[in-house]
Amino acid sequence: MAAVEFLPNVYWVGVVDWNLRDFHGYAAAPRGTTYNAYVIKGEKTVLVDTVSAACSRAFFEAVEAVVPLEAIDYLVVNHVEPDHSGCLMEAVERIRPEKIFCTAMGKAFMLSHYHRSDWPYEVVQTGQSLPLGGKTIDFLELKMLHWPDNMGCYVREDGLLISSDAFGQNWATSERFDDEMDFNEMAGLMGSYYANIILPFSEHVLKALGRVEELGWPIRMIAPSHGVILRGHVEEAVGLYRRWARQEVARKAVIVYDTMWKSTALMAEAIAEGLIEKGVTVRVFHMKACHHSDVVAEVLDAAAVILGSSTHNNGMLPLMADMVRYMEGLRPRGRVGAAFGSYGWSGEAPKQLSEALERMRMKVCDVLRVKNVPAEADLAVCKDLGRRLAGEVDALAGA
Ligand code: FEO
Repeated sequence: MAAVEFLPNVYWVGVVDWNLRDFHGYAAAPRGTTYNAYVIKGEKTVLVDTVSAACSRAFFEAVEAVVPLEAIDYLVVNHVEPDHSGCLMEAVERIRPEKIFCTAMGKAFMLSHYHRSDWPYEVVQTGQSLPLGGKTIDFLELKMLHWPDNMGCYVREDGLLISSDAFGQNWATSERFDDEMDFNEMAGLMGSYYANIILPFSEHVLKALGRVEELGWPIRMIAPSHGVILRGHVEEAVGLYRRWARQEVARKAVIVYDTMWKSTALMAEAIAEGLIEKGVTVRVFHMKACHHSDVVAEVLDAAAVILGSSTHNNGMLPLMADMVRYMEGLRPRGRVGAAFGSYGWSGEAPKQLSEALERMRMKVCDVLRVKNVPAEADLAVCKDLGRRLAGEVDALAGA
């Protein structure tokens, strides 16, 4: 896509990856993504980030449409993950920048990715500035949002925060701005991105938001590394980030299970009925019909997480093992949980699931096991668990 000048002498020079579906090897991206890079022109010109190596031709075309490569003075590397530094080797060779601005960890990561000790690294910290003549960039370390090297850039004259992975959405669109899109749709995709990428680093989100407040920077626009640029809903997006980072929850429960002969599925449905009867919003996921990314996107604001599995070879079914491993890594906290499952003779899976909930520091309300096929009385117990969980959900969600 063509470059877009969205502020005076500030250009989007990114690439839309319409066909991406596997994000970083672990998250689903059903709507594709974009890799956003930016050119800022003052008396000196800077290129902020590159894109995935697979998109190099489109990237250099976009950059060259706004500035000849030899007229770029500096590179800023906000993040070394290859979706943003994939064209860095070629960019350095063709641009020959005077300096490459990055964090200390950014330099270390570039050395271990590209093995070029001869590049002109310039390590910066929060509070340091780069005057371009007509534009001024203030650097902001964004450690762990999403890697230890992440950094943001604030363009002082425009109130523009280039936020790297923070505020990203995996969304391939021809539109470049949030005010050209439906806000709720954007917020959903930003939430899914948060749940799958940023959630484990929520403490760092709160620190970064606090640091921006201390610095007193008025933020009029946020330009992330993925998805659309925020200019119509900046306050709402910051509010959502604050809420997600605090792990605030709604009157909502997520039931995730896998089943062999549908007995565990019957238990899941009965638990859901009890919750729904009490007016709780419920999302039920059978792991054979969904991706773990879809589940955690719903867990983001759910007060209850209820895990079920049949027992197979003394353990949970493999798709639940994947789900639990993925969810634990994302560190959802402060929820209530329960575990359930049908079994034939040994029946270890529900206990293993409840242990996983405890490792996620969730309060386990109950662990239900049913031998083989649930009878009506067993399903009544499951439904009653749903009702009891609704009370816990209300307490957590402040209803
Ligand atoms: Fe968009 Fe952490 O890379």
